[in-house]
Amino acid sequence: MSVCSCISTTCVVIVILQIIKTLVPWLYKNLLGPKFFGPKIDVRRMGQWAVITGATDGIGKAYAKALAKKGVNVVLISRSKDKLEKVAEEIKSASSAQVKIIDVDFTQGPEIYDKIEKGIAGLEVGTLVNNVGMSYANPEFFLSIQDRDKLLRDIIECNIHSVTHMCKLVMPGMVERKKGVIINISSLSAVVPSPLLSVYGATKAFVDKFSVDLNTEYSSQGIIVQSVLPGYVATNMSKIRKETFLAPNSDNYVASALTTLVALKFYGPKLNPLYHSEILSRCVLPDICGRDNLLRLVPHETVEATTRIA
Ligand SMILES: NC(=O)c1ccc[n+]([C@@H]2O[C@H](COP(=O)([O-])OP(=O)(O)OC[C@H]3O[C@@H](n4cnc5c(N)ncnc54)[C@H](OP(=O)(O)O)[C@@H]3O)[C@@H](O)[C@H]2O)c1
Repeated sequence: MSVCSCISTTCVVIVILQIIKTLVPWLYKNLLGPKFFGPKIDVRRMGQWAVITGATDGIGKAYAKALAKKGVNVVLISRSKDKLEKVAEEIKSASSAQVKIIDVDFTQGPEIYDKIEKGIAGLEVGTLVNNVGMSYANPEFFLSIQDRDKLLRDIIECNIHSVTHMCKLVMPGMVERKKGVIINISSLSAVVPSPLLSVYGATKAFVDKFSVDLNTEYSSQGIIVQSVLPGYVATNMSKIRKETFLAPNSDNYVASALTTLVALKFYGPKLNPLYHSEILSRCVLPDICGRDNLLRLVPHETVEATTRIA
């Protein structure tokens, strides 16, 4: 073998080894690990009840169904009483879980939290899913948003205040019992550019930042806060009717998201339900977003909290 071919073979081997060194841990961390190995968080052990906001459709309804199937009783919170009753019946007929409903409109100011507080009084709430959220009817320039003052106030009430208020109501019980899971639904638009949805994106960035820091504050007290950043999911909000290659349906999305609720020590700080839409966004946008954003997926958990639960 000539010196030249020897050098080129060595170079090819080095490149292949480098690729394997990068690819195998990535595949393990993002695909195989969460699905097949390691400690999972048993939501039943967190507490008998889960509270889900925005539970009558889309991602929230999918969380309610999935948690009920895991044997957790569910409190469904949404705006329309008839839809709440229908979803409650659906869940009861598909599982043995108890179901409570609370009808409130999250754009209606702080008074609604008194009703929620009464509705969940005495329940051992181990899981809170802060899912409710709203956006503009259509993407729009900030100054051209129709009925801007009201809409922006509503979006902020619904997307931000609901999260902090619900945490305030539910967390004291979790801290007392030294365990609990809070799942906050942010959005990919929190970390990638979202022009024409600037206020929506900013509210979701709040949810993400709040979740990460809250997790750090309370992980030593046994509470895990997960920030979930969906890309497109086929729901009413996205106006995508059917599951596509780029947009999973909400049941499949939530099933995947729940598998990421695992120990950080085992898999590293940030995991992601693997969907093409998110991968594409992150491959296409790195130059605009910066490399760190490629890694800011979901969820955020800390070593201390998860080790104790595992
Ligand atoms: N779908 C996506 O592609 C996507 C992507 C990223 C992030 N997200 C986030 O995921 C979360 C859920 O979105 P989704 O797509 O599942 O939405 P969805 O299918 O439109 O469902 C929204 C749910 O929230 C309830 N809701 C809406 N406004 C409310 C209010 N003011 N007060 C009380 N309940 C209210 C709705 O109740 P009613 O049935 O009574 O209207 C419904 O149960 C949101 O936070 C959203 O920002 C979604």
